[in-house]
Amino acid sequence: MYSFIRKGIFSLDPEDAHNLVIKALGLAAYPPFHFLLKQLLNCPQGTPKTVMGIEFKNPIGLAAGADKNAEAIDGFGAMGFGFIEVGTVTPLAQEGNAKPRQFRLVEAEGIINRNGFNNYGIDQLIENVKKSHYDGVLGINIGKNKLTPLEQGKDDYLICLNKAYNYAGYITVNISSPNTPDLRQLQYGDYFDDLLRSIKSRQKELASQYGKYVPIAVKIAPDLTESELIQIADTLMRHKMDGVIATNTTISRDNVTNLQNAEQQGGLSGKPLQHKSTAIIARLHQELKGQIPIIGSGGIDGVQNAQEKIQAGAELLQVYSGLIYHGPKLVKELVQAIK
Ligand SMILES: Cc1cc2nc3c(=O)[nH]c(=O)nc-3n(C[C@H](O)[C@H](O)[C@H](O)COP(=O)(O)O)c2cc1C
Repeated sequence: MYSFIRKGIFSLDPEDAHNLVIKALGLAAYPPFHFLLKQLLNCPQGTPKTVMGIEFKNPIGLAAGADKNAEAIDGFGAMGFGFIEVGTVTPLAQEGNAKPRQFRLVEAEGIINRNGFNNYGIDQLIENVKKSHYDGVLGINIGKNKLTPLEQGKDDYLICLNKAYNYAGYITVNISSPNTPDLRQLQYGDYFDDLLRSIKSRQKELASQYGKYVPIAVKIAPDLTESELIQIADTLMRHKMDGVIATNTTISRDNVTNLQNAEQQGGLSGKPLQHKSTAIIARLHQELKGQIPIIGSGGIDGVQNAQEKIQAGAELLQVYSGLIYHGPKLVKELVQAIK
Protein backbone atom coordinates (compact mmCIF):
# COMPACT_ATOMS: atom_id res chain seq x y z
CA MET A 1 0.00 0.00 0.00
CA TYR A 2 2.86 2.40 0.77
CA SER A 3 4.16 2.15 -2.81
CA PHE A 4 0.83 3.65 -3.89
CA ILE A 5 0.98 6.44 -1.27
CA ARG A 6 4.65 7.04 -2.15
CA LYS A 7 3.74 7.72 -5.79
CA GLY A 8 1.46 10.52 -4.61
CA ILE A 9 3.98 11.88 -2.13
CA PHE A 10 6.82 11.81 -4.67
CA SER A 11 4.73 13.74 -7.20
CA LEU A 12 4.93 16.74 -4.82
CA ASP A 13 7.84 18.97 -3.88
CA PRO A 14 9.65 17.16 -1.00
CA GLU A 15 9.00 19.86 1.57
CA ASP A 16 5.33 20.31 0.58
CA ALA A 17 4.92 16.54 0.82
CA HIS A 18 6.57 16.55 4.24
CA ASN A 19 4.29 19.31 5.54
CA LEU A 20 1.25 17.43 4.29
CA VAL A 21 2.31 14.23 6.04
CA ILE A 22 2.97 16.13 9.28
CA LYS A 23 -0.53 17.68 9.08
CA ALA A 24 -2.09 14.23 8.48
CA LEU A 25 -0.13 12.61 11.31
CA GLY A 26 -1.07 15.55 13.53
CA LEU A 27 -4.65 14.27 13.40
CA ALA A 28 -3.53 11.34 15.55
CA ALA A 29 -3.60 13.77 18.50
CA TYR A 30 -7.34 13.01 18.48
CA PRO A 31 -7.87 9.64 20.21
CA PRO A 32 -10.17 8.02 17.57
CA PHE A 33 -7.66 8.80 14.79
CA HIS A 34 -4.81 7.59 16.99
CA PHE A 35 -6.64 4.32 17.64
CA LEU A 36 -7.40 3.85 13.93
CA LEU A 37 -3.83 4.56 12.83
CA LYS A 38 -2.45 2.18 15.46
CA GLN A 39 -4.82 -0.58 14.34
CA LEU A 40 -3.98 0.03 10.69
CA LEU A 41 -0.21 -0.05 11.20
CA ASN A 42 -0.37 -2.86 13.76
CA CYS A 43 3.24 -2.57 14.92
CA PRO A 44 4.46 -4.99 17.61
CA GLN A 45 5.73 -3.63 20.95
CA GLY A 46 9.26 -4.90 20.37
CA THR A 47 11.93 -5.64 22.92
CA PRO A 48 12.48 -3.12 25.73
CA LYS A 49 16.00 -1.84 26.31
CA THR A 50 17.49 0.37 29.00
CA VAL A 51 20.00 2.90 27.68
CA MET A 52 21.25 6.15 29.31
CA GLY A 53 19.30 5.02 32.38
CA ILE A 54 15.96 5.20 30.51
CA GLU A 55 13.76 2.29 29.56
CA PHE A 56 12.89 2.35 25.84
CA LYS A 57 9.87 0.31 24.69
CA ASN A 58 12.06 -0.86 21.79
CA PRO A 59 15.40 0.34 20.31
CA ILE A 60 14.00 1.97 17.12
CA GLY A 61 13.56 5.75 17.16
CA LEU A 62 12.52 8.55 14.83
CA ALA A 63 15.52 10.79 13.99
CA ALA A 64 15.44 14.56 14.44
CA GLY A 65 14.21 16.79 11.64
CA ALA A 66 11.08 14.81 10.78
CA ASP A 67 8.99 16.52 13.45
CA LYS A 68 10.86 19.75 14.08
CA ASN A 69 8.06 21.44 16.02
CA ALA A 70 6.58 18.40 17.80
CA GLU A 71 3.35 18.68 15.79
CA ALA A 72 2.89 14.98 15.03
CA ILE A 73 4.29 13.10 18.05
CA ASP A 74 1.11 11.06 18.49
CA GLY A 75 1.08 10.05 14.83
CA PHE A 76 4.71 8.92 14.84
CA GLY A 77 4.05 7.24 18.20
CA ALA A 78 1.27 5.18 16.58
CA MET A 79 3.81 3.82 14.06
CA GLY A 80 5.44 1.88 16.89
CA PHE A 81 8.67 3.81 17.44
CA GLY A 82 10.36 3.13 20.78
CA PHE A 83 11.33 6.78 20.97
CA ILE A 84 10.81 10.01 19.07
CA GLU A 85 13.28 12.86 18.75
CA VAL A 86 11.74 16.25 17.95
CA GLY A 87 13.60 19.39 16.80
CA THR A 88 16.12 20.69 16.04
CA VAL A 89 14.62 23.59 17.94
CA THR A 90 16.27 26.96 18.55
CA PRO A 91 15.52 29.64 21.19
CA LEU A 92 13.75 31.90 18.66
CA ALA A 93 11.59 30.92 15.72
CA GLN A 94 13.41 31.17 12.39
CA GLU A 95 12.49 30.59 8.76
CA GLY A 96 15.54 28.65 7.66
CA ASN A 97 17.13 28.87 4.23
CA ALA A 98 15.42 29.91 1.00
CA LYS A 99 13.23 27.30 -0.71
CA PRO A 100 13.58 24.89 -2.42
CA ARG A 101 15.82 23.32 0.22
CA GLN A 102 15.00 19.60 0.10
CA PHE A 103 15.83 17.32 -2.82
CA ARG A 104 15.28 13.63 -3.49
CA LEU A 105 17.95 11.46 -5.09
CA VAL A 106 15.48 8.74 -5.96
CA GLU A 107 17.83 6.27 -7.70
CA ALA A 108 20.12 6.27 -4.66
CA GLU A 109 17.31 6.48 -2.07
CA GLY A 110 18.96 9.61 -0.71
CA ILE A 111 17.82 13.08 0.34
CA ILE A 112 19.72 16.35 0.38
CA ASN A 113 18.43 19.04 2.69
CA ARG A 114 19.65 22.51 3.52
CA ASN A 115 16.69 23.52 5.66
CA GLY A 116 18.78 25.50 8.15
CA PHE A 117 16.83 24.80 11.36
CA ASN A 118 13.46 26.18 10.21
CA ASN A 119 11.34 25.97 13.35
CA TYR A 120 8.79 27.82 15.50
CA GLY A 121 11.11 28.22 18.49
CA ILE A 122 11.41 26.40 21.82
CA ASP A 123 8.32 27.96 23.48
CA GLN A 124 5.98 26.75 20.73
CA LEU A 125 7.62 23.32 20.72
CA ILE A 126 7.02 22.94 24.46
CA GLU A 127 3.37 23.98 24.04
CA ASN A 128 2.98 21.27 21.38
CA VAL A 129 4.64 18.66 23.60
CA LYS A 130 2.26 19.55 26.44
CA LYS A 131 -0.74 18.96 24.15
CA SER A 132 0.37 15.50 22.97
CA HIS A 133 -0.78 12.21 24.53
CA TYR A 134 2.46 10.40 23.71
CA ASP A 135 3.77 8.45 26.68
CA GLY A 136 6.96 6.99 25.19
CA VAL A 137 10.49 8.39 25.41
CA LEU A 138 10.70 11.86 23.86
CA GLY A 139 14.06 13.30 22.84
CA ILE A 140 14.29 17.06 22.32
CA ASN A 141 17.07 18.07 19.93
CA ILE A 142 18.39 21.61 20.49
CA GLY A 143 20.47 23.99 18.38
CA LYS A 144 21.45 27.62 18.01
CA ASN A 145 19.82 30.39 16.00
CA LYS A 146 21.54 31.32 12.74
CA LEU A 147 22.07 34.94 13.82
CA THR A 148 23.68 34.05 17.15
CA PRO A 149 27.45 34.42 16.77
CA LEU A 150 29.41 31.22 17.33
CA GLU A 151 31.05 32.70 20.45
CA GLN A 152 27.59 33.05 22.04
CA GLY A 153 26.23 29.79 20.63
CA LYS A 154 26.55 28.18 24.04
CA ASP A 155 23.91 30.56 25.45
CA ASP A 156 21.35 29.35 22.89
CA TYR A 157 21.90 25.73 23.94
CA LEU A 158 21.51 26.71 27.61
CA ILE A 159 18.26 28.60 26.92
CA CYS A 160 16.82 25.55 25.13
CA LEU A 161 18.13 23.19 27.80
CA ASN A 162 16.44 25.19 30.59
CA LYS A 163 13.10 25.21 28.76
CA ALA A 164 13.17 21.62 27.48
CA TYR A 165 14.53 19.88 30.57
CA ASN A 166 11.28 19.15 32.36
CA TYR A 167 9.53 17.85 29.22
CA ALA A 168 12.22 15.62 27.73
CA GLY A 169 13.13 11.98 28.27
CA TYR A 170 16.57 12.97 26.97
CA ILE A 171 18.06 16.01 25.26
CA THR A 172 20.30 16.05 22.17
CA VAL A 173 22.87 18.77 21.60
CA ASN A 174 23.06 19.14 17.83
CA ILE A 175 26.39 20.57 16.73
CA SER A 176 26.59 18.68 13.47
CA SER A 177 24.08 20.13 11.03
CA PRO A 178 25.91 21.29 7.88
CA ASN A 179 23.27 23.95 7.16
CA THR A 180 23.90 26.52 9.90
CA PRO A 181 27.09 28.43 9.07
CA ASP A 182 30.06 27.33 11.24
CA LEU A 183 27.88 25.18 13.55
CA ARG A 184 30.18 22.18 13.08
CA GLN A 185 33.04 24.26 14.56
CA LEU A 186 31.40 23.57 17.92
CA GLN A 187 32.57 19.95 17.59
CA TYR A 188 36.22 20.92 18.00
CA GLY A 189 38.79 22.17 20.52
CA ASP A 190 37.92 24.82 23.09
CA TYR A 191 34.44 25.48 21.68
CA PHE A 192 33.49 21.84 22.26
CA ASP A 193 35.12 21.62 25.66
CA ASP A 194 33.52 24.84 26.87
CA LEU A 195 30.07 23.92 25.49
CA LEU A 196 30.03 20.51 27.15
CA ARG A 197 31.33 21.89 30.46
CA SER A 198 28.54 24.51 30.57
CA ILE A 199 25.89 22.00 29.56
CA LYS A 200 26.93 19.44 32.18
CA SER A 201 27.03 22.06 34.89
CA ARG A 202 23.53 23.33 33.94
CA GLN A 203 22.26 19.73 33.80
CA LYS A 204 23.40 19.28 37.40
CA GLU A 205 21.54 22.42 38.52
CA LEU A 206 18.40 21.41 36.63
CA ALA A 207 18.52 17.87 38.04
CA SER A 208 18.42 19.24 41.57
CA GLN A 209 15.77 21.86 40.66
CA TYR A 210 13.40 19.28 39.13
CA GLY A 211 14.45 16.29 41.21
CA LYS A 212 15.15 14.16 38.12
CA TYR A 213 18.14 13.44 35.92
CA VAL A 214 17.55 13.95 32.20
CA PRO A 215 20.38 12.44 30.10
CA ILE A 216 22.09 14.54 27.43
CA ALA A 217 23.42 13.14 24.14
CA VAL A 218 25.61 14.89 21.56
CA LYS A 219 24.95 14.44 17.83
CA ILE A 220 28.03 14.31 15.63
CA ALA A 221 28.77 14.56 11.91
CA PRO A 222 29.99 11.71 9.72
CA ASP A 223 32.56 13.98 8.04
CA LEU A 224 35.31 13.65 10.63
CA THR A 225 38.96 12.70 10.29
CA GLU A 226 40.37 9.93 12.46
CA SER A 227 42.08 12.41 14.78
CA GLU A 228 38.96 14.60 15.06
CA LEU A 229 36.91 11.56 16.01
CA ILE A 230 39.45 10.52 18.65
CA GLN A 231 39.43 14.03 20.14
CA ILE A 232 35.64 14.15 20.17
CA ALA A 233 35.44 10.76 21.91
CA ASP A 234 37.98 11.90 24.48
CA THR A 235 36.05 15.13 25.22
CA LEU A 236 32.73 13.25 25.48
CA MET A 237 34.25 10.86 28.03
CA ARG A 238 35.98 13.63 29.99
CA HIS A 239 32.66 15.42 30.44
CA LYS A 240 30.79 12.16 31.09
CA MET A 241 28.16 12.81 28.44
CA ASP A 242 25.24 10.39 28.61
CA GLY A 243 25.05 9.41 24.94
CA VAL A 244 26.25 10.17 21.43
CA ILE A 245 24.22 10.10 18.21
CA ALA A 246 26.23 9.03 15.17
CA THR A 247 25.60 10.43 12.67
CA ASN A 248 24.00 13.48 11.13
CA THR A 249 23.91 14.01 7.33
CA THR A 250 27.08 14.13 5.20
CA ILE A 251 28.49 16.86 2.97
CA SER A 252 30.29 14.20 0.91
CA ARG A 253 28.86 13.18 -2.47
CA ASP A 254 31.06 10.09 -2.87
CA ASN A 255 28.27 7.63 -3.61
CA VAL A 256 26.04 9.85 -5.69
CA THR A 257 28.17 11.66 -8.26
CA ASN A 258 26.34 12.29 -11.54
CA LEU A 259 22.90 11.64 -10.06
CA GLN A 260 20.16 14.21 -10.44
CA ASN A 261 20.26 16.75 -7.54
CA ALA A 262 23.63 15.46 -6.29
CA GLU A 263 25.16 18.90 -6.85
CA GLN A 264 22.66 20.59 -4.51
CA GLN A 265 24.24 22.05 -1.40
CA GLY A 266 23.30 20.58 1.97
CA GLY A 267 23.44 17.40 4.00
CA LEU A 268 22.96 14.04 2.30
CA SER A 269 21.03 11.33 4.14
CA GLY A 270 19.60 7.92 3.33
CA LYS A 271 21.23 4.92 1.69
CA PRO A 272 24.34 6.76 0.40
CA LEU A 273 25.19 7.56 4.05
CA GLN A 274 24.69 4.02 5.33
CA HIS A 275 28.27 2.66 5.35
CA LYS A 276 29.91 5.94 6.27
CA SER A 277 27.84 6.28 9.44
CA THR A 278 28.34 2.60 10.36
CA ALA A 279 32.12 3.07 10.03
CA ILE A 280 31.97 6.10 12.35
CA ILE A 281 29.94 4.09 14.89
CA ALA A 282 32.49 1.25 14.82
CA ARG A 283 35.46 3.60 15.31
CA LEU A 284 33.67 5.58 17.99
CA HIS A 285 32.76 2.38 19.82
CA GLN A 286 36.44 1.42 19.92
CA GLU A 287 37.38 4.79 21.39
CA LEU A 288 34.54 5.02 23.92
CA LYS A 289 35.22 1.52 25.26
CA GLY A 290 31.60 1.09 26.26
CA GLN A 291 31.64 4.15 28.54
CA ILE A 292 29.05 6.11 26.53
CA PRO A 293 26.13 4.52 24.65
CA ILE A 294 25.89 5.17 20.91
CA ILE A 295 22.64 5.86 19.07
CA GLY A 296 23.14 4.91 15.41
CA SER A 297 21.60 6.93 12.59
CA GLY A 298 22.32 7.05 8.88
CA GLY A 299 20.76 5.24 5.96
CA ILE A 300 18.93 2.49 7.85
CA ASP A 301 16.55 0.93 5.35
CA GLY A 302 16.26 -2.68 6.44
CA VAL A 303 16.97 -5.25 9.12
CA GLN A 304 20.37 -6.28 7.78
CA ASN A 305 22.01 -2.88 7.82
CA ALA A 306 20.29 -2.05 11.12
CA GLN A 307 21.97 -5.17 12.56
CA GLU A 308 25.30 -3.97 11.14
CA LYS A 309 24.98 -0.77 13.15
CA ILE A 310 24.17 -2.78 16.30
CA GLN A 311 27.19 -5.01 15.65
CA ALA A 312 29.32 -1.90 15.15
CA GLY A 313 28.37 -0.81 18.67
CA ALA A 314 25.08 1.11 18.51
CA GLU A 315 22.61 0.40 21.32
CA LEU A 316 19.68 2.31 19.85
CA LEU A 317 18.87 3.23 16.23
CA GLN A 318 17.13 6.13 14.54
CA VAL A 319 15.57 6.36 11.09
CA TYR A 320 14.31 9.18 8.91
CA SER A 321 15.06 8.87 5.16
CA GLY A 322 14.27 5.14 5.15
CA LEU A 323 10.79 5.98 6.38
CA ILE A 324 10.25 8.26 3.39
CA TYR A 325 11.40 5.61 0.90
CA HIS A 326 9.90 2.51 2.55
CA GLY A 327 7.04 3.76 4.72
CA PRO A 328 5.88 2.62 8.19
CA LYS A 329 6.43 -1.08 7.38
CA LEU A 330 10.15 -0.38 7.83
CA VAL A 331 9.49 0.57 11.46
CA LYS A 332 7.48 -2.61 11.96
CA GLU A 333 10.24 -4.82 10.49
CA LEU A 334 12.94 -3.14 12.57
CA VAL A 335 10.92 -3.23 15.80
CA GLN A 336 10.23 -6.93 15.26
CA ALA A 337 13.83 -7.87 14.50
CA ILE A 338 16.15 -5.61 16.52
CA LYS A 339 16.80 -6.42 20.17
C1 LIG B 1 14.94 16.70 5.69
C2 LIG B 1 15.85 16.40 6.85
C3 LIG B 1 15.92 17.29 7.92
C4 LIG B 1 16.76 17.01 9.00
N1 LIG B 1 16.80 17.89 10.05
C5 LIG B 1 17.55 17.59 11.13
C6 LIG B 1 17.54 18.44 12.25
O1 LIG B 1 16.82 19.44 12.32
N2 LIG B 1 18.35 18.11 13.30
C7 LIG B 1 19.14 16.99 13.30
O2 LIG B 1 19.83 16.73 14.30
N3 LIG B 1 19.15 16.16 12.25
C8 LIG B 1 18.38 16.43 11.17
N4 LIG B 1 18.39 15.58 10.11
C9 LIG B 1 19.27 14.40 10.12
C10 LIG B 1 18.55 13.15 10.61
O3 LIG B 1 18.12 13.28 11.93
C11 LIG B 1 19.46 11.90 10.51
O4 LIG B 1 20.48 12.00 11.49
C12 LIG B 1 20.09 11.74 9.15
O5 LIG B 1 19.19 12.08 8.13
C13 LIG B 1 20.58 10.32 8.92
O6 LIG B 1 19.55 9.39 9.05
P1 LIG B 1 18.69 8.86 7.77
O7 LIG B 1 19.68 8.45 6.73
O8 LIG B 1 17.88 7.72 8.34
O9 LIG B 1 17.84 10.00 7.32
C14 LIG B 1 17.55 15.83 9.01
C15 LIG B 1 17.47 14.93 7.93
C16 LIG B 1 16.62 15.20 6.87
C17 LIG B 1 16.55 14.20 5.74
